[in-house]
Amino acid sequence: MSLSQAVGILVGVHACFLPFLWCFKSAPFCPSTSVTVSTFLNICSEFTSRTMHPSKVKVVDLGSGSGTVLFAAAKKGYRCIGYERNPWLVAWTRAKASSQGLSSLVKVYHRSLFSADLSDVDIVYFFAVPSMLVDLERKLDRDLPKNRPILVASNGFSLPTWKYQQLKNGLYIYLRQPNHTTKNENSNDLF
Ligand SMILES: C[S@@+](CC[C@H](N)C(=O)[O-])C[C@H]1O[C@@H](n2cnc3c(N)ncnc32)[C@H](O)[C@@H]1O
Repeated sequence: MSLSQAVGILVGVHACFLPFLWCFKSAPFCPSTSVTVSTFLNICSEFTSRTMHPSKVKVVDLGSGSGTVLFAAAKKGYRCIGYERNPWLVAWTRAKASSQGLSSLVKVYHRSLFSADLSDVDIVYFFAVPSMLVDLERKLDRDLPKNRPILVASNGFSLPTWKYQQLKNGLYIYLRQPNHTTKNENSNDLF
């Protein structure tokens, strides 16, 4: 085998398998179910309906996968941002946004979710594994805007110390208040 053939094989193996190996180091790719997505969107619309027009609402999915949540939220008119480290899923999301005419509402960054810009976000969604949640909670504490309520939804697992307001169809819902209190724990009246 020549050197160039060996290099070609190495590059091919890297291109095919590395993104999937990355997935197994933390949350693997597994799209949210349609029940979860529609539960999330109902809660978003309760949260935003009183004060905000959808086009003014910024939704971030931390670990956006193939964009399932981003596209569903964009169809409601929200501005949607994803952070995803698997390059194939980023490429897929961008291609789908373009083919569906949603490029102005759906943006995805090929970056770690821990580097996400949350400074002007209104709603945060994630479907992460428990081992990521300590760091994720720390990031939310540090980076979420502190001058208005922020809706945070975690699919499947609760944050380590935050108290959730609702648990609905596997979705833990948090309403982060400006003063960082978490009142109405487990109440049915969120907003
Ligand atoms: C369970 S999937 C959820 C996908 C999407 N949010 C959904 O609900 O359909 C988790 C995604 O997070 C991505 N991910 C895991 N760790 C990440 C990290 N540190 N930075 C960015 N993306 C990450 C994985 O590649 C995977 O696509």
